Amino acid sequence: MVHHYIGSGRIVVSRPWLIPAQGRTRKGRNLTGNRILLTIGGGIACYKCLDLVRRLKERGHSVRTIMTQSAQAFITPLAVSALTNERVFTELFDVDDEREIGHIKLSRQSDIIVVAPATANLIARMANGLADDLATATLLANDKPLLVAPAMNPKMWSHPATQRNVAQLQADGAQIIGPEAGEMAESGEAGVGRLVETMTLVAAIEERLAVTASEGALLGKHVVITAGPTHEPIDPVRYIANRSSGKQGFAIARAAAEAGARVTLVSGPVGLPDPVGVDVQRVETAEEMLAAVRDALHALGDPPDVGVFAAAVADWRTDGHVEQKIKKTKGHSAPSLKLVENPDILKTIADDPKLRPSLVVGFAAETENVVGFAQRKLISKNADWIVANDVSARTGVMGGDRNTIHLVTRDGVEAWPQMAKSDVSTELVKRIAAALSDGQTGQRDVG
Ligand code: C5P
Repeated sequence: MVHHYIGSGRIVVSRPWLIPAQGRTRKGRNLTGNRILLTIGGGIACYKCLDLVRRLKERGHSVRTIMTQSAQAFITPLAVSALTNERVFTELFDVDDEREIGHIKLSRQSDIIVVAPATANLIARMANGLADDLATATLLANDKPLLVAPAMNPKMWSHPATQRNVAQLQADGAQIIGPEAGEMAESGEAGVGRLVETMTLVAAIEERLAVTASEGALLGKHVVITAGPTHEPIDPVRYIANRSSGKQGFAIARAAAEAGARVTLVSGPVGLPDPVGVDVQRVETAEEMLAAVRDALHALGDPPDVGVFAAAVADWRTDGHVEQKIKKTKGHSAPSLKLVENPDILKTIADDPKLRPSLVVGFAAETENVVGFAQRKLISKNADWIVANDVSARTGVMGGDRNTIHLVTRDGVEAWPQMAKSDVSTELVKRIAAALSDGQTGQRDVG
């Protein structure tokens, strides 16, 4: 997977599993096949749009195009039409067009609008709400996500007027991709102004479409999530802990909130900021975590829709409470610790008919026989799904930003490709939303 930094400061992640196989992905799910409206502005970078169209089509998307008057001076509508396999739209006042498919329908019949290359002039007209040709009229009537990929001379890009207009477009909700630094085709000048690479733009488009697909998917749902390690005190200054960073649980909380859910995140000690829109309860020990989860579930009234138990809860705590720091004493051997078992939060909640969420998702972090142990855990913990991952040191999963998981359900095992933890979360949230709407949730062996 490749991370691309883009002009707006956001990071776009390309998803290699979306690349080949004509839009088909694992288990036959079709994550592609979107309707993209490409608005081509007039600049030397226009020629790159031909490749962009090809790449998007290869990936199963359909592409409609609007060309501005000046774009037609650089490439012909005929070439674009041959690649899109669609007519090219150019005129605002075309009697036939307005009757068949005018500027309003061009937006309504698309999933996303992409402006590439966006010239300084086109950006200025968009930022000021002009609607004096088909491109700008369609953009003004647009109700879909908008991606703008600028390309122009570096001096034009850095001019305060252009920067003001770009800031205005961002404030109006557009996502700006690029431009990149490099040599300009027409003048040989170097600087920031080149259209981003085609595959960077493809990745940005698909990333935006993925976000749109998950928006609202969990609207009105309640999700309770545990994350991070727990710290079990030995004495007031020492504790037993593990290497969990909490990143995966926090990413799931963020993705669930972005999908519209009401989210309570109960976290052990981690150095991560509260995700926006999530109610975060910070705890230290396993016993505190169980109490906080119970409180969160009671506070909701009805059992929540989803419980995601991603925390790496310490299996044992020290027996008893030590009030003072244990001192080293000359001539005495090291103290031995007596450990007692912690409550199993996942199993306790999954077994409780009053508190059990409709969908219970556990995690299994293993260093060997990952799937086998996860399958056993699915039954022994009374869960609906187990997200299994290999946390051996060589995988870098613990504390890292990437994860390779197996999703173990009552129906079987799915191997997911390696992804960023944020992508695992987005995919998992989509699966959760689909399971809730299909009613594939369980009140397993409760009570
Ligand atoms: O038994 P094991 O720790 O491997 O189980 C992992 C799963 O159980 C995770 O979902 C974890 O959050 C949950 N768990 C728990 N309370 C414990 C131990 C594990 O909720 N005390």
